[in-house]
Amino acid sequence: MTSIRGTDERSAAPATRALSNALSGALSNRVALITGGNRGIGKAIATHLASLGTSISICGRDQKTLEATANELRATGAVVHSQRADVTKSTEVEALIHQTESALGGISILVNNAGMGLFGPAHEKTEQEWDTLMNTNLKSLFLVSRAVVPGMIQRKSGDIINISSLAGKNTFAGGGIYCASKWAVQGLSGCMAEDLRSYGIRVSTVCPGSVATEFSGRGPKDASKVLTAHDVAHAVAMIAMQGPQSFLSEVQLRPLAKP
Ligand SMILES: NC(=O)c1ccc[n+]([C@@H]2O[C@H](COP(=O)([O-])OP(=O)(O)OC[C@H]3O[C@@H](n4cnc5c(N)ncnc54)[C@H](OP(=O)(O)O)[C@@H]3O)[C@@H](O)[C@H]2O)c1
Repeated sequence: MTSIRGTDERSAAPATRALSNALSGALSNRVALITGGNRGIGKAIATHLASLGTSISICGRDQKTLEATANELRATGAVVHSQRADVTKSTEVEALIHQTESALGGISILVNNAGMGLFGPAHEKTEQEWDTLMNTNLKSLFLVSRAVVPGMIQRKSGDIINISSLAGKNTFAGGGIYCASKWAVQGLSGCMAEDLRSYGIRVSTVCPGSVATEFSGRGPKDASKVLTAHDVAHAVAMIAMQGPQSFLSEVQLRPLAKP
């Protein structure tokens, strides 16, 4: 049985059920686009937002995982649009936004999640590796947000939630170009937040530490000392459900157990 701190085992199950029932329609009437929603953290975010009543659009480059995830979500009763799109390409991004909004309505939650990792000393990396990583982790955020923002401005509301990293707040050996991309995500997000808050649009970042996913370029870690993709999804939902007058601009997320 799942236990909730501060309650005994007998009262925990009804409390958990009551909480999830109370929240089940909390984000109905909203449409979320999650880039890289076919696997890893993006899939967990899509699943969690769908459970709260949100209509979901997911994209990625791999058609097979995209279809499998879309079908899994539909099996839970979720309304889902899925579309193959490379978020580093402006024409594919524009088609993604257009077709998502035709299928589901105006996007009110954008989660810029698609990203990649590449670690090792910067001086050992190629120009091609730099370009690919920056395009994936940074330019994509610019392209997708630029395509979604005009609709949000028209509707005078929206949440743009950028999946950054604690690597966007810190430096470490071998983090060179990944840290550079995430520090840039922090800078872009902060400036966009100031540009857009007067339109009722919130731009925030979630900065997780290590998360157990297939994230490229890292060795195995002790699973009990890293975050799960669901922990990140929970933080995203918390931002989307905040009070209408508040602006939760950044969430830093660490595993409870010290590595
Ligand atoms: N895992 C961690 O420890 C960790 C920690 C902090 C922050 N983050 C951040 O969390 C985000 C998700 O990471 P993850 O751990 O879930 O990684 P992941 O399991 O490798 O998933 C990456 C996702 O991004 C998509 N993607 C990559 N390039 C894309 C492109 N050009 N166009 C469209 N989609 C693309 C992938 O789909 P396709 O391959 O099908 O395109 C996949 O859905 C990233 O921004 C990452 O920097 C991860």
